Amino acid sequence: MSVHQVERTFQSGGNAIHVLKGIEMELLPKKLVMLKGRSGSGKTTLLNCLGGLDTPSKGEIQFDGSPFSSLNDDERTVIRRKNMGFIFQAFALMPLLSAWENVELSLRMAGVSRSEWKERVTECLELVGLEKRMHHRPFELSGGEQQRVAIAKAIAHKPILLLADEPTAELDTGMAAQIMAVFQNIIQTEEVTICMTTHDPTILEVADHVYEMVDGKFC
Ligand SMILES: Nc1ncnc2c1ncn2[C@@H]1O[C@H](COP(=O)(O)OP(=O)(O)OP(=O)(O)O)[C@@H](O)[C@H]1O
Ligand SMILES: [Mg+2]
Repeated sequence: MSVHQVERTFQSGGNAIHVLKGIEMELLPKKLVMLKGRSGSGKTTLLNCLGGLDTPSKGEIQFDGSPFSSLNDDERTVIRRKNMGFIFQAFALMPLLSAWENVELSLRMAGVSRSEWKERVTECLELVGLEKRMHHRPFELSGGEQQRVAIAKAIAHKPILLLADEPTAELDTGMAAQIMAVFQNIIQTEEVTICMTTHDPTILEVADHVYEMVDGKFC
């Protein structure tokens, strides 16, 4: 994915708020890329644009050979469903479904054929080290385990880009380190690129590349 001169301006009560002011970035295959910057600097805004949940006011985002940011909503949704995965700070699991069923749901929604579900769900839960917790529901799992289910869910349909907004913010240091080990593992085994935001200096150390947002740009 490449990001060229991306700007995002919000209108609020007659005022224009310039949040992104000319972002340049490159996400290369199989890299762990992190975004840092003070609260309100625009990290989530950028991540939303990368994922096509929002569109830039100006500039271009290219993804997998297509002019992602200038496609219409339907075209962008197709690409997002097929090639992207999302992980949020608060795990976004369905509370009444087991770990297994949560991952299966994501394959169902991605339109993967039913015959492939069983093998892929098992594979993904093993990848994140939850083979012994497959049939637990979220409330029976620790925070770190829930986040690992969320990762299994996000990678199940084999995206090439994983976007994660502060995926370790709710976790203690030990669990956060486990999540980072899982990320490093799936970059190799699933050949995915990960772009995540974090405030945690110890986590920033494991990045292949860190972009720092200052006043709407990378410094
Ligand atoms: N839909 C919106 N309308 C108006 N302003 C918005 C909107 N979304 C975000 N903003 C503003 O854009 C700025 C950047 O917000 P953003 O959520 O991207 O920051 P962030 O870097 O992710 O912060 P944090 O570290 O706290 O998560 C903030 O000042 C926010 O108020
Ligand atoms: Mg944010």
